[in-house]
Amino acid sequence: MKFLGISAAIVSVLCLTQSVLAQEGATAPAGAGGASSSYHCDPNACKLPNCLCASQSPPAGLSPKDVPQFVTITFDDSIQAKLLATAHEMLNVKNPNGCPAKGSWYVSMEYTDFSLVQQWYANGNEVADHTFSHVGNPSAQEIAAARAMLHKYAGIPLGKIKGFRAPFLNYTADTLNEISKQGFHYDTSSTAVVDDCYWPYTLDNGMANDCWTGICDPDKVKLPGVWEIPMYAVNDNASTPQLMDVYLAGSVSDVTAWSNANFDRHYNGNRQPFGIYVHPTHLTTFPGLEDPSALKKGVVDFIQSLAGKPDVWFVTNEQLLQWMQNPVPASQLANQSYMKCELPNTGKEICNGLENITISDAGVASSNLLNACNFNTTNWGTCYNCPSVAPTLEQPTPEDHVQSNDPSYRHPVPDNCDSVWWDPVAGACLCTSSGCAYKDVAVPVNTSTSSSKGGNAVSSGTGQKPSENADNNAIGLAPVYGLVLSSVAGMIATLWL
Ligand SMILES: *[C@@H]1O[C@H](CO)[C@@H](O)[C@H](O)[C@H]1NC(C)=O
Ligand SMILES: *[C@@H]1O[C@H](CO)[C@@H](O)[C@H](O)[C@H]1NC(C)=O
Ligand SMILES: *[C@@H]1O[C@H](CO)[C@@H](O)[C@H](O)[C@H]1NC(C)=O
Ligand SMILES: *[C@@H]1O[C@H](CO)[C@@H](O)[C@H](O)[C@H]1NC(C)=O
Ligand SMILES: *[C@@H]1O[C@H](CO)[C@@H](O)[C@H](O)[C@H]1NC(C)=O
Ligand SMILES: *[C@@H]1O[C@H](CO)[C@@H](O)[C@H](O)[C@H]1NC(C)=O
Ligand SMILES: [Zn+2]
Repeated sequence: MKFLGISAAIVSVLCLTQSVLAQEGATAPAGAGGASSSYHCDPNACKLPNCLCASQSPPAGLSPKDVPQFVTITFDDSIQAKLLATAHEMLNVKNPNGCPAKGSWYVSMEYTDFSLVQQWYANGNEVADHTFSHVGNPSAQEIAAARAMLHKYAGIPLGKIKGFRAPFLNYTADTLNEISKQGFHYDTSSTAVVDDCYWPYTLDNGMANDCWTGICDPDKVKLPGVWEIPMYAVNDNASTPQLMDVYLAGSVSDVTAWSNANFDRHYNGNRQPFGIYVHPTHLTTFPGLEDPSALKKGVVDFIQSLAGKPDVWFVTNEQLLQWMQNPVPASQLANQSYMKCELPNTGKEICNGLENITISDAGVASSNLLNACNFNTTNWGTCYNCPSVAPTLEQPTPEDHVQSNDPSYRHPVPDNCDSVWWDPVAGACLCTSSGCAYKDVAVPVNTSTSSSKGGNAVSSGTGQKPSENADNNAIGLAPVYGLVLSSVAGMIATLWL
């Protein structure tokens, strides 16, 4: 039996505001999982830390009752102040070691405020790639441009941008091959339903999820050392798998009931990670739109109820992979280095995304040290130099607004310092001990398109300077992706053949 691709259903989108807003993978076809006939993996040949076969059982032969129940809360699309505030409300719980919950954000570039990306990262959360302009079948350049901008304007070391999620979850074999080429550690775009509810695995032997699309053909994808973290669906009361924004699929009490039942399936079963996949736009109050406070409260209450259970850990996808590569019983997780949460003590206030405690400008990182980059539709802060013209897909990191001999020049993060320790004003790394030492060995960013000659260093723009004093808060609602309130479940049902 063959099924049509999910992509046809996903293109059915609804316009709610003046911009076209698209839904990202709301549901998967019921019963779409199932053991793949084409996936084969020999656990004797494929061994940790860099190879793991897809399996419903925990890694390293650990018993489910001894492993942590990981919960991953992820956020998609642009980072803006209001959306970041919503994310912080979701993460307002503690892990068993007393550290705050951490989350992963799959960031698209348009309408993103890079100072907030840096703040998110500096607080121990994960920043990952979701392309430049949020297109459904991204080019190499779409993926590389996001990587370049997250590095240049948010100071994220290239080697810390490890994850990728395809816009609309519309990934292909080409996408996976491309992210491997660009040095990513993992993809998280696929769907796991009940039958293929695998722990994360490496793609040495290909894909084991979404096999109904043909992606599991081992000739299509074979990427040693690249991990797939499937997205774990929640079955609703009609057994329809709901994936992203589950809270839009029913009343608060129904969604809470389904979510609890599915969480228990993981927690009392093989303890595969449980995911809560959020487009923060849906849960954020905007003037003129329906007030989502009740929806948000439902999600927050659910998260808090999980935090009350033993062995539940809220982690980033990258922390999850650190554990996957070197699994330890839940009893030993508290003091693993990747679960610690001390913030750096740099001794002075620097533009590193962490607010000096004497500054209380809510939601804005080190506000007095930020540069404001103002362009027609994009206004954002950065600790680094503003570009002289607005970034585009072709030219994501244009020439700097100031030259390196200008007194206001900001020094880019070098490859031997993590940006939480880097003072871009002084051009100095404030890390003085081996505990904070960092050396970036990531694949260099390549944003040259085949047609362009000179890479990304030289701007073709005319050098219009951004105004230092323009209003930096004029970030509108229109740009926000993912604001669709309908489910595509009915549509998918009609696609079965
Ligand atoms: C998804 O990717 C396919 C290529 O595999 C493309 O034809 C389709 O237009 C994409 N869908 C969306 C919504 O972008
Ligand atoms: C699921 O719950 C809704 C109420 O939220 C109800 O209308 C519907 O009939 C239920 N469906 C099934 C299959 O139980
Ligand atoms: C964690 O604690 C155990 C024993 O309490 C100790 O042996 C181990 O070195 C600690 N690990 C870290 C990373 O602190
Ligand atoms: C914040 O700034 C003040 C004054 O510059 C400084 O004395 C203090 O150490 C800084 N605090 C932190 C946490 O960096
Ligand atoms: C910015 O806006 C001005 C005036 O509205 C327009 O002339 C200019 O072409 C715009 N620039 C870009 C890069 O869109
Ligand atoms: C950079 O990317 C372009 C286009 O995607 C490609 O043609 C070129 O070979 C790449 N260069 C390197 C060094 O990988
Ligand atoms: Zn998205």
